[in-house]
Amino acid sequence: MIPKETIQNIIDTARIDEVVGDFVQLKRRGANMLGLCPFHNEKTPSFTVSPAKGIYKCFGCGKAGNAVNFIMDHEKYSYPEALRFLADKYNIEIEEQEPTPEEIAQDTEREGLFALNTFAQKYFSRILHESEEGKAVGLTYFKERGFREDIIRKFQLGFSASAWDAFTREALNSGYSEKYLITSGLTIKKDDRLYDRFRERVIFPIHNLTGKVIGFGGRTLSSDKNKPKYVNSPESEVYNKSKSLYGIWLARNAMVAKDNCLLVEGYTDVISLYQSGIENVVSSSGTSLTTDQIRLIHKFTRNITILYDGDPAGIKASFRGIDMILEQGLNVKVVLFPDGDDPDAFARKHRSVEVETFISENANDFIAFKTRLLLNETQGDPIKKAALIHEIIQTISLIPDPIIRPLYIRECAEIMDMDEQTLMHELNKQRRKKIVKGDKQDEELPEPEMVAPPASELPDISDASAQEKDIIRLLLLYGTENLSFKVRIEGGNPFKEEFEEVLVPVAQYICNDLRTNQITFDSEVYQFIFDAFAEGADSNALPEEKFFLMHADKRIADTAIDLITPRYELSPGWEEIRIYVPTETDDLENTIVRSLLSLIHRKLSILIYKNQQTMKVLDNTSEVWSDLLSRDIYYKRARNEINRRLGRILNG
Ligand code: CTP
Ligand code: MN
Repeated sequence: MIPKETIQNIIDTARIDEVVGDFVQLKRRGANMLGLCPFHNEKTPSFTVSPAKGIYKCFGCGKAGNAVNFIMDHEKYSYPEALRFLADKYNIEIEEQEPTPEEIAQDTEREGLFALNTFAQKYFSRILHESEEGKAVGLTYFKERGFREDIIRKFQLGFSASAWDAFTREALNSGYSEKYLITSGLTIKKDDRLYDRFRERVIFPIHNLTGKVIGFGGRTLSSDKNKPKYVNSPESEVYNKSKSLYGIWLARNAMVAKDNCLLVEGYTDVISLYQSGIENVVSSSGTSLTTDQIRLIHKFTRNITILYDGDPAGIKASFRGIDMILEQGLNVKVVLFPDGDDPDAFARKHRSVEVETFISENANDFIAFKTRLLLNETQGDPIKKAALIHEIIQTISLIPDPIIRPLYIRECAEIMDMDEQTLMHELNKQRRKKIVKGDKQDEELPEPEMVAPPASELPDISDASAQEKDIIRLLLLYGTENLSFKVRIEGGNPFKEEFEEVLVPVAQYICNDLRTNQITFDSEVYQFIFDAFAEGADSNALPEEKFFLMHADKRIADTAIDLITPRYELSPGWEEIRIYVPTETDDLENTIVRSLLSLIHRKLSILIYKNQQTMKVLDNTSEVWSDLLSRDIYYKRARNEINRRLGRILNG
């Protein structure tokens, strides 16, 4: 648990432009800063950072928040994780509040495992570079594979000796506990004897996003068919195979820079490509990609290029995984290496530029690639072709972007020499099925017959959100400003009227008015903000803007950000134009009164409407009915009065 004061300290210290600036290149634009949004693909910048307010907002995709939200969103951290990240960045010490026993256990376990893994990685590297066995067997092997010295060091490769328990003994001697040795999987206990999991293997440490060692893969050098080629660390508190990607810690920056992620099969493919200068490469270690891994990639880019070694069975086996990538809205390309080469073999045979050129020139769009591959197999067999159409359309139907789907339909129609309309029809059929099944919360239901009733027939009488929003906006923007009123001095000179100026904060004015009229907000978030101002007005301590902008509840922070960022201030074109628009601040009192009246007016209309609905279903001789009628009259009278006042304001 992080203490409240520390949280406050972190929030106060973190500068939004510095925090965002670590991930996004920002250019100054007036009072704000502008950059390319890291949360969606864009060519012209609409991602705006306001250092003064400590917030960011993207006018393209709508993402917004404060420094903590940014780190949460960008790094996919939880709230406390993001706070720790910022604390670390700004060297703020977190004196933990007493954590629960489980938290202590979990934390110590994680720390214990990280410490042990680091120790093991250093040990294996030392054996590789310094021991006779390591040099003769391990290092020679890596050199023969063509790995350069600097790359071997960069990937922290190692070697485990052939002795039964060389590592385990060393670790125990250095004070590491048997418990962690076993949970990390580095040591195996059998018949009360401890021995090393990795023996006589070259070692590939596996790192997390930030470069900490979470596990190991060990490749045998023996040709003995009974020995498994690879031995890997088991899952632990720090290693979750389906959530990690080999090489991600070295690839992340290049993935952003190239806006693409190359996906290969294994450790050696990653290392060889990296050595060729192609750094945006990761591997899912021989298994098909999981949704967690796709999400991990998505943090850095929306484009994935899968590199295959040209084995058709392997390619077809990967199709389902690729469907999953498309379903998450990422773009997929595939590259097939010639002569059955895997990326590692290809990279060894060609110069760096050739590898890079080959990949970029041979990257096929996945759907077109799949269509061609399957079409090849149908050999004109109509039944097989029907199955192929079904399968391809199934894949296209997964793509969430409704603009992209028809483009693929056109392309596939061309490849298969088919009528576009037929395919489109099939696509709609499949999407309807999916929507009915309810496995997608989807954007557009295909309901062309439905005609919207004319607006006049649907007075949206039940909704006061626009009026509520306007009041909250005024509170947030001007709550602490003062309105000045002239008040007659009582008991002064009886022959001459005398006035004095009284200052009333906007918040007090608004809150008193609405409380007197017993107005409450339908929106929970608005009510929260209103209450905060009302309490502040009562105690003479109005909440600052920051209180809402930095609020831990994202709904509150989002609402505040949305309401206090005026469009014209942030849209870049406007600043140059500088036309004078009379603003609401020119006559703040008038603006506020008008908004208050509008809200009350709308709330009254809702009451009247509901009242009348109830009256319709009641017997008009009942006592309740006449009670409702008198209410109806009362509300309408009040509304008329408001109409009158509103009219006066609007007309002059
Ligand atoms: N793999 C694994 N366990 C196995 C086999 C493979 O974890 N028993 C994973 C490893 O991450 C490996 C990847 O699948 O890197 C690809 O397997 P493979 O092509 O057989 O291994 P390479 O690393 O390419 O080895 P090499 O080129 O030396 O044959
Ligand atoms: Mn290989």
